[in-house]
Amino acid sequence: MSYLGVGTISVPSPVSSVTTLPGTCSKPGFKLGNPYLRWSFDGHPNLGQPMTEPDDLDQYLAQFPRESPHLYLGPDSGGYWSNLSKQQNAELVSLLGTCSTRDAIAATQPQHSEVIFSPKRAAALELLGLDGSEVAVDLGCMWGALTIPLAKQTARVLAVDQTLESLKFSEARAIEEDLDNVNFLRGNLRDLALPASTFDLAVVNGVLEWIPEVDPIVVDDYWHGAKERQGAGDPGEVQIGFLRKVHASLRQAGRLFLAIENRYDYKMFCGVPDPHTGTRFTTIAPRWLANVISKVRRRREYRTWIYSFADIRKQLHRAGFSTVSLYACWPDYRQPEHIQPYGAKNEHFRPMSSRRDGRRTFKATVANRLEWLLFKKLDIQSLAPSIIAIAEK
Ligand SMILES: C[S@@+](CC[C@H](N)C(=O)[O-])C[C@H]1O[C@@H](n2cnc3c(N)ncnc32)[C@H](O)[C@@H]1O
Repeated sequence: MSYLGVGTISVPSPVSSVTTLPGTCSKPGFKLGNPYLRWSFDGHPNLGQPMTEPDDLDQYLAQFPRESPHLYLGPDSGGYWSNLSKQQNAELVSLLGTCSTRDAIAATQPQHSEVIFSPKRAAALELLGLDGSEVAVDLGCMWGALTIPLAKQTARVLAVDQTLESLKFSEARAIEEDLDNVNFLRGNLRDLALPASTFDLAVVNGVLEWIPEVDPIVVDDYWHGAKERQGAGDPGEVQIGFLRKVHASLRQAGRLFLAIENRYDYKMFCGVPDPHTGTRFTTIAPRWLANVISKVRRRREYRTWIYSFADIRKQLHRAGFSTVSLYACWPDYRQPEHIQPYGAKNEHFRPMSSRRDGRRTFKATVANRLEWLLFKKLDIQSLAPSIIAIAEK
């Protein structure tokens, strides 16, 4: 595939030269060098903490009814978020007992196969330098794209989501992979009480922006403006409330891994639609103007707030985190190929727009030139597509 071996992760102080063999990493603690990235790591802040007593998590889970071997049911808030309609999800779930998750997706939703199963999905977890002792929580786990790799790299994982169908799918994945160190919990992240001081790691991957919304969301319909319920309260404050809760659930020196789109992704200035609402210019406009645009175009408020590098750092400090390390990510955090410590020299950047679909269209060529100018020549990382933040309690 065209993306093999082209990604780069570089971490500052000290930074070693790029290893040219993809998928090899000599650092201890790296059991799973991701074959889709080249490494230039030299040193990780491994925590090496003792494991949380398994009882803590088991006691917490014992308050919820158990639906199936790994799945617990927190209170049902009616929350639903999926790329699939309820009917499509029902069809997918009905296949789970009779065929593998891969076959079920291939039979019903082949277009989502890559986003669910690609090893690239979890590539950025390698930034954490996990040592296998960690107890992790994957908040908003959906189809388990990060949950499953996390369960292979840590001692134990709790994966939480509001969408029961997604949890059933993820549980089936865990069973297929013989993973008995992962539990799933249906719950609404705004209301659900998380256990205090329990986790070494919390993963919030593509989730923070959705926290202020309450409508059952089927992504395509949401783009066109569902008219029913919508969230209440200032979206930024709702997000802070959630982040504070995550902070409280972490042990001393526990870490949050957060990935989100950059509000000032250069493409947003070129009129590419906001990836959450489908409206143009809403991410870069002041919030009040984004609200006006959203109300005119979609008859609902603009609530899926995303941030700039500076503002996500501020929000994380406001939520109580002591240190925040930021990384710029290309082409996006979902399937990262190049991750760069924010502010360090972006030496290894290579434009990647035209490689994404393998075709060299006029649009892709222009995007490539623009990326070369912005990120290679001028090194304006504040316009990178995605942000990864690793924040310590
Ligand atoms: C864009 S998906 C990200 C999925 C996953 N983290 C990944 O990277 O593949 C957002 C997920 O967050 C979940 N989510 C959003 N808001 C939530 C809430 N208030 N409570 C529970 N889950 C929520 C949705 O159900 C959905 O599965």
